[in-house]
Amino acid sequence: MNGTSLNAICPYFTMFPLDFPVKVIERHAKKGSWVLDPFCGRGTTNFAARILGIPSVGVDCSPIAVAIAKAKTVRSTVDAVVNALNECLEFDLTEPIPRGSFWKRAYHPKTLESLCRIRAALINDCTTSAQVTLRALLLGALHGPLTKGVPSYFSNQCTRTFAPKPKYAVKFWKARSLHPQRIDIRDLVQRNARRYLEGQPRLAPGLIHLADSKALDRLSLPRGINLVITSPPYYGMRTYRPDQWLRNWFLGGPNKVEYGQPDGSLSHKSDNDFARELGDVWRSVSSVCAQNARLVCRFGGIRNRSAEPHDLIKRSFKDTDWKITTMRNAGSATRGKRQAYQFGGRSSDSPREEYDVYAKLM
Ligand SMILES: C[S@@+](CC[C@H](N)C(=O)[O-])C[C@H]1O[C@@H](n2cnc3c(N)ncnc32)[C@H](O)[C@@H]1O
Repeated sequence: MNGTSLNAICPYFTMFPLDFPVKVIERHAKKGSWVLDPFCGRGTTNFAARILGIPSVGVDCSPIAVAIAKAKTVRSTVDAVVNALNECLEFDLTEPIPRGSFWKRAYHPKTLESLCRIRAALINDCTTSAQVTLRALLLGALHGPLTKGVPSYFSNQCTRTFAPKPKYAVKFWKARSLHPQRIDIRDLVQRNARRYLEGQPRLAPGLIHLADSKALDRLSLPRGINLVITSPPYYGMRTYRPDQWLRNWFLGGPNKVEYGQPDGSLSHKSDNDFARELGDVWRSVSSVCAQNARLVCRFGGIRNRSAEPHDLIKRSFKDTDWKITTMRNAGSATRGKRQAYQFGGRSSDSPREEYDVYAKLM
C-alpha cells in the first residue's frame, strides 16, 4: 500500500496490521458511515479509515496512545514541523532536568536539555497539526537502537517498542561501555518528518478522545457510527504503562517507571472481571452506534493466563445487544505481522492464538 509511512511514526504494543482494518472497512463501510475504535491504540483503524476517505473516531484511555493516534488524523508538512520544533527549542525549562545514572547514560546532556525544553513546550501547547505531528515523531524517536550511519533515535542503545527499566539499562550500557552521543535534533526531526510525511493520504474527518470506553455516552460523538473495528487489550497484558514510561514522561508524566494501569483501563484481576468490564465496553459502544451496526474485533491472550481467549471474548458479549455472527482463528499472534509480533522474547508474555469476532447490533 502506498502512502502509509505515517502509520509507523511511533510503535505501540499489540498494534494490529494496517491491512486488517483496511479490509474490514472496504468490505463493510457504507456511505455516510463513521467508524469507531473504542481501543484505538496508535490509531491504526483511524489511519485505515483516512486512507479510504471514511470519517472515524478513536478512543483510548492511554495518553500515549492518544498522542500517537492524533497524529494519524492531521496533515502537516516537513517545514511546519521543523518550525514547530524551532519554537519549542526556545521554550524556557519549567522543571529541573532529570538527574541520576540512568539519565546520564541514556541521553547526552545537551540532547537531554533540548528534549526537556521541547517537552515543556508541548505540554504547554500541542494544538496545531504541526505540533501534534512533532510530538508523535519525537515519541517514536525517544528510544531505539544505535544505527551505523546517521542516528535515528535520541537515546543510547535501547529497544524501540518499549523503554528499558533503568537499573537493567545502566548495567547493560556500563558492561558494554556505551555512552550516549550528542544528537543533532533538528536534523533528526527533519529526516524523520520527510520519511513519515511522504505521500500522506488526504484527510478524512478524524476525532480522537482520551477516555474510558466503558462510558462513551459522556462524549459527544457523531451520529451514524455503524462500523466498529477494534482490538481490546490482551487479558493479562498489564505492562502498557511501565513499558512505556519514557514516552509517558515526555508527555508530562514522572521521570521514573510508573506501575499500574492508566485510569479507566479494563481490570485484569480475574478473567471474570475482565470479561464483565469488556462487556461494559460493548454495551457502551452499542449505545452510541446506529441501528444494525457491525463490529469486528481481533482478540488474543498471553500464555501466562489460563483463560482461553475465545471463551473470554464470547463471555464478554453475553448480555449485550451484539450478536456474534462469525468467529475465526486469525492465526498465532507471532506468525507474520500479527497484532503482537513485537513481544520480543518474553516467554510469559508471549501471545497465543488470536481470533477475529464479527458481530451485529440487534
Ligand atoms: C490492543 S491495544 C489496541 C491497539 C490498536 N489496535 C493499534 O493498532 O494500535 C488496546 C488498547 O486498549 C486501551 N484500553 C484499555 N482499557 C481501555 C478502556 N477502558 N477504555 C479505552 N481504552 C482502553 C489500552 O490503553 C490500549 O491502547
